[in-house]
Amino acid sequence: MRSYRAKVVEPITLPDRDRREAALAAAGYNVFNLDSGDVYVDLLTDSGTGAMSHEQWAALQRGDESYAGSRSFARLEEAVREVMGFEHVVPAHQGRGAENLLYGALLEEGDVVPNNTHFDTTRAHVANQGADPVDCPLQVALDPAGDPDRPFKGNMDLDRLEAVVDEVGAGAVPVIVLTITNNSMAGQPVSVENTRAVAEFAAEIDATLVVDACRFAENAAFVADREAALDDASVAEIVREQLSYADAVIMSGKKDALVNVGGFVACRDEALFEAVKQRAILYEGFPTYGGMAGRDLEAMAVGLREAVAERYVEGRLASVAELGERLADAGVPVYRPFGGHAVYVDAERFLPHVEPEAFPGQALVCAAYLEGAVRCVELGSFAFPGADRPELVRLALPRRTYGREHLEHVAETFAAVHGRREELGGLDVVDEPPNPELRHFSAELEPREPLVSAAD
Ligand code: F0G
Repeated sequence: MRSYRAKVVEPITLPDRDRREAALAAAGYNVFNLDSGDVYVDLLTDSGTGAMSHEQWAALQRGDESYAGSRSFARLEEAVREVMGFEHVVPAHQGRGAENLLYGALLEEGDVVPNNTHFDTTRAHVANQGADPVDCPLQVALDPAGDPDRPFKGNMDLDRLEAVVDEVGAGAVPVIVLTITNNSMAGQPVSVENTRAVAEFAAEIDATLVVDACRFAENAAFVADREAALDDASVAEIVREQLSYADAVIMSGKKDALVNVGGFVACRDEALFEAVKQRAILYEGFPTYGGMAGRDLEAMAVGLREAVAERYVEGRLASVAELGERLADAGVPVYRPFGGHAVYVDAERFLPHVEPEAFPGQALVCAAYLEGAVRCVELGSFAFPGADRPELVRLALPRRTYGREHLEHVAETFAAVHGRREELGGLDVVDEPPNPELRHFSAELEPREPLVSAAD
């Protein structure tokens, strides 16, 4: 059930078919290049795209913009202590800023960092320190059709983790990261049991356990629903329990702190706190604002508490699941179970006649835009050249933003695309930036055959 109503509204329009065709061609068949005004339902990301509550808007007015010792920072610190259980907090302008602070303090050239699955910016920041990011997901999670009822497909594969450490030696692994939920593995959750086991292993080899907590509240809501041992615990209690195993967290406030920008590092160890603060001064700002305005620190403090309110976060998972079921009813092959922030479509099964070199996921992304001005993102061979990954398309739901009518429109759009899937062909990249790992943000493509769209 939806636990909020609208007080401020933002007009959106569905551009006509000619406009959509022209906009997509001008964007080089890359939806990152579209103007947002040409998009009707925007499912590109759940990051920083949500709606703030009236309490958050009110909190902005309390912002203390002092350079040092801001009261707003003290309120954020208090919220992080209460909600997440960490003593020390260093704000950053967003998640990747926090990654830069923390991984720069923890890693050295030649280190190896296992993670259930690295998100792109995490991988890049680990690599930027000269360390080697290694993914240890469950094998079953890599198959979009694999075990659709498995509750915690985001878990770290403990055998893989041990194998990595055996191979390179414990001395080369100073840090283990657990990403909850596992964004790059279809937004699947991580169990508290798995978190505890990874923490025990990290302690054995004397490694620091970092939790990437961007979607900590959604993860906890899955745990409340699926992990028998925590059946009676509240979401807030589960968050405290799960994060109690971590030595440090990095957070993007743009996800489960329900704000449009911001982030932080939180940790327990005094020496690590000092090292992160020193890096903050260099890269983000004085450690009591760290790249954020005082008002935004206030909004993030309020958002952290709102995120663990059962009625909010349960409704959040329900609306993602509703989108998933609507798509499945429309004949769309979807990854199951559904993620916490997004539904992932299996483009390989959707367009079996389009080979990976012609980017079936990107063909689907373009078709969804042409059909209904719905924007989503390819996470397959276009975004990750050379990686052995499934051809997925992510439909990420901004928080507290879209209602049932929008979900219906998305499902109708995908049903129409599904109805004429055999007509859809692939694309070629015609212009890409020097670093192919970042190409999906700016590369341009050309369709192999004209992209047909149904009449309005
Ligand atoms: N870690 C995870 C798991 C993420 O999903 C993201 C961002 C970050 C770190 C970096 O945070 O954007 O605030 O710098 N994910 C967004 C997405 C961009 O669309 O999935 P950031």
